[in-house]
Amino acid sequence: MREKQSMLNYMKRYWWMGIAAALFMVLEVSADLYQPGVMAVIVDDGILGGTGGSPDIALIRREGLKMILVVALGGISGVLCGLFANLCCQNYANDLRKASFRRIMHFSFAQTDTFSTGSLITRVTNDITQIQNFVMQFMRGAVRCLMYSVVGSWCLLSLDLSFRTVVWIAIPMILVFTALIIIRTSPMFAVLQAKLDHMNSVIEENVNGIRVVRAFVQENREKKRFEDANQSLVDTQMKVLVLISWLRPVMNIIINLAIVAILWIGAGRARAGAMQPGTIMAAVTYMSQILNGMMMLAMIFQTLSRGIASSRRIGEILKTEPVIQDGGAKAQEQQTNSSVVPEPPVAGTVSFRGVSFSYPGVRARVLHDINLDIRAGETLAIVGATGCGKSTLASLIPRFYDATEGSVLVDGRDVRQYPLKELRDKVTVVLQKSELFSTTIRDNIAIGRPGASAEEIRAAAVTAQADDFIMQQPDGYDTAVAEGGMSLSGGQRQRIAIARALLRRSEILIMDDSTSALDLETEAALNRALSAQHDRMTRIIIAQRIASVRHADRIAVLDKGTILALGTHDQLYESCPVYRDICDSQLGQGGMTA
Ligand SMILES: Nc1ncnc2c1ncn2[C@@H]1O[C@H](COP(=O)(O)OP(=O)(O)O)[C@@H](O)[C@H]1O
Ligand SMILES: [Mg+2]
Repeated sequence: MREKQSMLNYMKRYWWMGIAAALFMVLEVSADLYQPGVMAVIVDDGILGGTGGSPDIALIRREGLKMILVVALGGISGVLCGLFANLCCQNYANDLRKASFRRIMHFSFAQTDTFSTGSLITRVTNDITQIQNFVMQFMRGAVRCLMYSVVGSWCLLSLDLSFRTVVWIAIPMILVFTALIIIRTSPMFAVLQAKLDHMNSVIEENVNGIRVVRAFVQENREKKRFEDANQSLVDTQMKVLVLISWLRPVMNIIINLAIVAILWIGAGRARAGAMQPGTIMAAVTYMSQILNGMMMLAMIFQTLSRGIASSRRIGEILKTEPVIQDGGAKAQEQQTNSSVVPEPPVAGTVSFRGVSFSYPGVRARVLHDINLDIRAGETLAIVGATGCGKSTLASLIPRFYDATEGSVLVDGRDVRQYPLKELRDKVTVVLQKSELFSTTIRDNIAIGRPGASAEEIRAAAVTAQADDFIMQQPDGYDTAVAEGGMSLSGGQRQRIAIARALLRRSEILIMDDSTSALDLETEAALNRALSAQHDRMTRIIIAQRIASVRHADRIAVLDKGTILALGTHDQLYESCPVYRDICDSQLGQGGMTA
């Protein structure tokens, strides 16, 4: 209920357009309904009933002119009704789309994962279009349907009460038939949208991963996967369409039967001298207007059930509260209740206190009871097999995810207590996959700190060992980067991402496997440049290569989500067999000195 209310709220600004559309629709339909009456007068009184059996030309001219005026008025009203209805529902859909997009931008990683990217795109595009269609259909159809059936019936019965049997039989028949179709089709719409989600996910994955698909010659497999998704969508769509395609022919049969009945009754009345041909003609027109109104009702219901399925899906987006929110009173309470003694605030410390974590919707724990204190200005390395939880551990510091148990402290304060902006100013992450945008190299680095000067950008690039290759690009810092950074090598992308992070000048820098594509020499130069920096930041380095981490102040060995050992390279080589194995496999026996 709340979701419906909140979706209707977006209509508030445009209600007057809806009212205008409805008013013009009343005019249009009135003109339609007025016309058969005039026609009856022209036929009965003008053509047949003129004095002395000859047509009453004056009356025909007068009534004919009236009819033309009414038709013109109806036509103009119809155009204006369409205009206002379109304005109203386009604006409404536009606002809804913007609101959904804004909400998605604030989703946490976990929330984006649960919806899936494909589904989010389908929702913001297709589902909103469905809602828009319904609003449009409703605005243009509701008044017409109501007036055609109620006023039309009244007009018909005021011509002659003997037509009532036809009305009493035809209207319920149409209602029952429409209800049957609606009941059968409406559950299919949710299925249809879900299948569309799936197909969009497949497209999205393949467009993003086109290079992998090509490299592994997986085109046929992926084509098959897409065709399956598409076929399944088409099958459901066909089922819906076949059901809906029954509507019009059956309606037409009912309408024609009703017209035959009207003619039959009319003929009887005419034979008895109680009715004239013009009246019968008008009755036929009214009858088809009434039944057309009912048909419109069927169409409204059909878009309604689609619209409901879609508005549920948009409602899900709109009512999803961002789980990762600025710290507030509740977070503070949690903190004081726990037995954690706050540390003295030293800029750049990170502490894990009994942290466990599992991904939303996944039972298995990725991290178990992590306790770790990272000192200010320290370089701490995390090593371990792929999948052991290194990236996950790092992602808890800037609150990409929240710990399931325990707490993460930055500068002695629970991360959940910080306003998000303050926390993310303190903590910068260079992600495992360096995301570049399709703009210049300079702008890609400047994302780190909007408004940074050209010198600052260059200085960050120099430290990140990126300046040399950037200067060799055709336009230097103004060289455009292709979408996803595809015009640069992996190592170049990584260095631009590092420069971006350095420009931010935050206290804590997390580098998640972000030097994996650099050669050892460049990496060593980067490390030297970082260590030579004035204000030393706390660095957390995640790496696969021992060579990348052996000079860190301390190294944490992570194994299946727990910290196995912590110490310097030399200490760990002596005391930790797992670490020694990794060293030996990478550096050869006696890796300590190699
Ligand atoms: N978004 C996610 N949803 C569910 N499981 C995930 C997600 N990201 C990672 N995992 C799982 O968590 C475990 C640890 O992943 P990760 O921290 O990325 O490992 P590492 O960085 O050490 O290679 C892996 O088993 C991985 O499959
Ligand atoms: Mg990782």
